[in-house]
Amino acid sequence: MMQNPYVPYKAQIVEIRDEVRGPRPIKTFKMKLVDRERFDYKSGQGCLVSIFGKGESWFTIANSPTRPDLEFSVLKTGKVTAKLHEMKVGDLVGIRGPLGRPFPLDEWKGMNILTIGGGIGQTPLRAIYQYVIDKENDYGDLTIIYGARSSRDLVYREELFKLIEEGYNVHLSIDNPEPGWKYFVGFVPDNVKRIKPEAKNTIAITCGPPIMIKITLNVLKELGFKEDQIYTTLERRMKCGIGKCGKCRIESYYVCRDGPVFSYAELSSMLEKI
Ligand code: FES
Repeated sequence: MMQNPYVPYKAQIVEIRDEVRGPRPIKTFKMKLVDRERFDYKSGQGCLVSIFGKGESWFTIANSPTRPDLEFSVLKTGKVTAKLHEMKVGDLVGIRGPLGRPFPLDEWKGMNILTIGGGIGQTPLRAIYQYVIDKENDYGDLTIIYGARSSRDLVYREELFKLIEEGYNVHLSIDNPEPGWKYFVGFVPDNVKRIKPEAKNTIAITCGPPIMIKITLNVLKELGFKEDQIYTTLERRMKCGIGKCGKCRIESYYVCRDGPVFSYAELSSMLEKI
């Protein structure tokens, strides 16, 4: 548990992976805390990562707490993320966290877990599926549905192909046909419709572009999922990260403090605002 939420821990970048190249590049940074072994966090929580002299940005933790170190997958979009993309193994950053309400994975024990992701929205879902894989005796079936615009835009591509090889229930998609692509072609919600996951005893967690989330929610409801069986996690610009500045507010919720994880039952009143 952190003592002063404004004081960052020092962390060192120990590995950098190029997930997506091109005009909207995504890199995954593996970081090791310098002064302590680790901090306790849960899947779905995030951190504010600071770069000395450049600023601070919120990122969801991309790996499960059952795996070593901390990983953040970063889309290059602004000043802080551009600077992070220039950093090298060995460089130091500051980390404030863990912040926010996590996925209630303990409450989901014994249930089937279905993750539905689009683009970089796969990041918090990865922290779930890794956890469920590592604690497989605690959960029922795991189904991973994930899509991106093209095969080059799939984050954690190699990891997901490996899971398919190992027999996990992974369903990938891309928006348009490509030579050699042997999985589904079309949008993520269409893939969900095609797969028709069983609603009974299942928790569905979806994360991706807002339009994908909205359509997916409707598909899940058509399949019989109830509002309290569906969860998502919201991305907002965060400043303080601890419910003080109001920057991340949507209606009466502060995403940094009350979320970023929400059930559909909580979200339905503010769907037009995400
Ligand atoms: S980021 Fe300040 S209240 Fe959420």
